[in-house]
Amino acid sequence: MFKNIVFGAFLADKGRVLVTGGCGFIGGAVVRELLAKGYTVRAFDLPAQFEYNPPPKEAEVYRGSILDSTDLCNAIEGCDYVMHLAALLGVRRSEKRRLDCLNINITGTFNVLDACVKEKVKKIIFASSSEVYGDQTKLPISESSPVNPKSIYAITKLAGEEYLRAFHERYGLPYNIVRYFNVYGPHQVAEFVMPRFVKNVLEGKQPEVYGSGKQVRSFCYVDDVAKGTVLALEYGKLGEIFNIGSDAKPISMAELAKKVIDISGKNLEIKFVDMVDSDRSSAREIDKRYPDLSKARKLLGYEPGTSLDERKKKMFEFGSVNGSWPKADERGDTAE
Ligand SMILES: NC(=O)c1ccc[n+]([C@@H]2O[C@H](COP(=O)([O-])OP(=O)(O)OC[C@H]3O[C@@H](n4cnc5c(N)ncnc54)[C@H](O)[C@@H]3O)[C@@H](O)[C@H]2O)c1
Repeated sequence: MFKNIVFGAFLADKGRVLVTGGCGFIGGAVVRELLAKGYTVRAFDLPAQFEYNPPPKEAEVYRGSILDSTDLCNAIEGCDYVMHLAALLGVRRSEKRRLDCLNINITGTFNVLDACVKEKVKKIIFASSSEVYGDQTKLPISESSPVNPKSIYAITKLAGEEYLRAFHERYGLPYNIVRYFNVYGPHQVAEFVMPRFVKNVLEGKQPEVYGSGKQVRSFCYVDDVAKGTVLALEYGKLGEIFNIGSDAKPISMAELAKKVIDISGKNLEIKFVDMVDSDRSSAREIDKRYPDLSKARKLLGYEPGTSLDERKKKMFEFGSVNGSWPKADERGDTAE
């Protein structure tokens, strides 16, 4: 009993965290992880996103846009920490809405940082992407590998990182950065490869593999990514970049499609289609990408789960997979 009271008091002391993009695929998992660890959590997202993927009832709800400084200052007021995950992503989507991508990912990030300084936030964590590495000759990719962005989206993520560094230099805003590698799990839309295969198979269709299917990735379950993100918040040193993902078993896209079919137990074959049908041209495809996680392991104690098969089953159990994000106009995040 006594222990519980002490534990409860300890949990209550952890502070208030604002999660931008708190109703997104990864943001939602970060909200749940923070709540489980005893933080007071505020989910900030576009109004319509709260209908699409609502946070648990324990979370405080702030509806607004990172393009609106007043919305942001209202939401950040009284928060100790900010986890900035709101963004426009997806290779195809960000190429189609290039100005929105620049605006939301760069101006939006600037607005978040500005509000953090005004509200005297103790630390911000920024969700960046392994896309900033582009193609690399040396694998696995470590945080000291050179950056080599190949898309507008990747450039906006790198610009966000640089803004964090600059705000730290200029205003002393404490930060750490996480660079996510391939993430999968329930609530992810089928513009990403794993939910696309699951959606195809759930609908009794052949999973479509682009090009040779030899492209290699390592997939990390969303809950593990959320754990790594919160560990980066709790890490004492500042200004660090951490790769967060899985290095358990890099897998080719053809092998992945085969595994998804096997888990479903359906009698389906892989369908190989031309790269031009994908959201990347073959020139922009990134052949091999998987992370070196030694830094996150050593400094954060981060350890991704290993069982890809078990967790893929959860995507089947989750059932429906949305083809894409809800339309921009319906959500009001468009600037074009
Ligand atoms: N999913 C991945 O594999 C992956 C990989 C690398 C990096 N990331 C990064 O992780 C973060 C989260 O990605 P996700 O997969 O959860 O994407 P997501 O699209 O599911 O979530 C992004 C959230 O941001 C919100 N948002 C967009 N514009 C906004 C605005 N103007 N104001 C407020 N909220 C806004 C969206 O409504 C959405 O809920 C992003 O910063 C992304 O760049 C994701």
